[in-house]
Amino acid sequence: MLLQPSKKALVPFVSVENMMHLVHHVGIETMLAELTDAIEDDFRRWESFDKTPRVASHSPEGVIELMPTSDHETYGFKYVNGHPKNMSQGLQTVTAFGLLAEVSTGYPVLLSEMTLLTALRTAATSAMAARHLAPKNSRVMAMIGSGAQSEFQALAMKVVVGIEEVRFYDIDFRATEKAVRNLADSGLRVVACRSAEEAIEGAQIVTTCTADKQFATILTDNMIGRGIHINAIGGDCPGKTELHRDILLRSDTFVEYPPQTRIEGEIQQMDPDYPVTELWRVITGLSEGRRDTNQITLFDSVGFAIEDFSALRYVRNRLKGTDLFLELDLLADPDDPRDLFGMLLRAKG
Ligand SMILES: NC(=O)c1ccc[n+]([C@@H]2O[C@H](COP(=O)([O-])OP(=O)(O)OC[C@H]3O[C@@H](n4cnc5c(N)ncnc54)[C@H](O)[C@@H]3O)[C@@H](O)[C@H]2O)c1
Repeated sequence: MLLQPSKKALVPFVSVENMMHLVHHVGIETMLAELTDAIEDDFRRWESFDKTPRVASHSPEGVIELMPTSDHETYGFKYVNGHPKNMSQGLQTVTAFGLLAEVSTGYPVLLSEMTLLTALRTAATSAMAARHLAPKNSRVMAMIGSGAQSEFQALAMKVVVGIEEVRFYDIDFRATEKAVRNLADSGLRVVACRSAEEAIEGAQIVTTCTADKQFATILTDNMIGRGIHINAIGGDCPGKTELHRDILLRSDTFVEYPPQTRIEGEIQQMDPDYPVTELWRVITGLSEGRRDTNQITLFDSVGFAIEDFSALRYVRNRLKGTDLFLELDLLADPDDPRDLFGMLLRAKG
């Protein structure tokens, strides 16, 4: 009896298994659309959040990051890694979990897997940016990199932007075959391409989502025609970029949080005062997004803490009325709050 935790000790926990059930319970397309709106709602109240560049611990193999934020009612953080070489050892490049807590007491109110949720929120954020920046009536997207994130990106662009055809390219053709197979019933026209040039043919949106722990050049200047929207996701660490610098010089660049993007994004290749527009300002109408049909727009995505906060809050709301979580005995809860030691003694053999 003594070891039975009280209600106050329990924190709802969403396992990977329950997250998978939740996605199918809601419907993946509905969830991507709702997540896009949830993230956009929080971008509209951007100024009410605490913001800081994420705390990154780098190694030769990859990076481990903590991503905190708060709206002064709720606090959230995500733990996430990025290890491009993991794949060759049968491990994922990106894994994550996250937590929400009540600011008034500091008590956690949700702990969740976020590997799947990161793929969903990254896709939703891409779609949100494209909704504001891509050419009107965009129907074709090139997807460079057919890894873990790629199908999520394709589906979100279908649901939110109206993309009908996605043209996949990856240096490893087996990854492209996997994506084509996974999206067979998606309602998208899915094309497997043998080169990045082939993938880009006829595309209004070009998404780059590759993983390499070094400066890479996935796109060169001659590949990008006028009017294109580039959704650059894979360049998200110091020393890890995907676009040739000349593309940036021809583009208008939109970012999440400049102090973080200047360290991690494509713009790390540019001077520290290189002009960028914050996406929240476009969403709220404070800054101009796409001006004309010739403009090249670039969303230099690195992933920001507010997107994870929005996704965790969305999951917390969506869990209501379901049994898709476990009650985790996460918090010590002595009968007398000052008698933590007494609680420990009572558990002794
Ligand atoms: N911006 C964000 O918010 C955000 C969120 C999640 C992941 N990411 C980043 O997105 C990238 C992809 O993540 P993932 O989970 O899909 O990784 P993944 O390892 O599952 O897939 C990456 C794919 O890129 C391919 N690739 C590598 N070099 C290439 C090249 N030169 N041309 C074409 N394809 C190439 C690989 O073969 C692999 O299939 C990573 O760099 C990750 O850090 C960014």
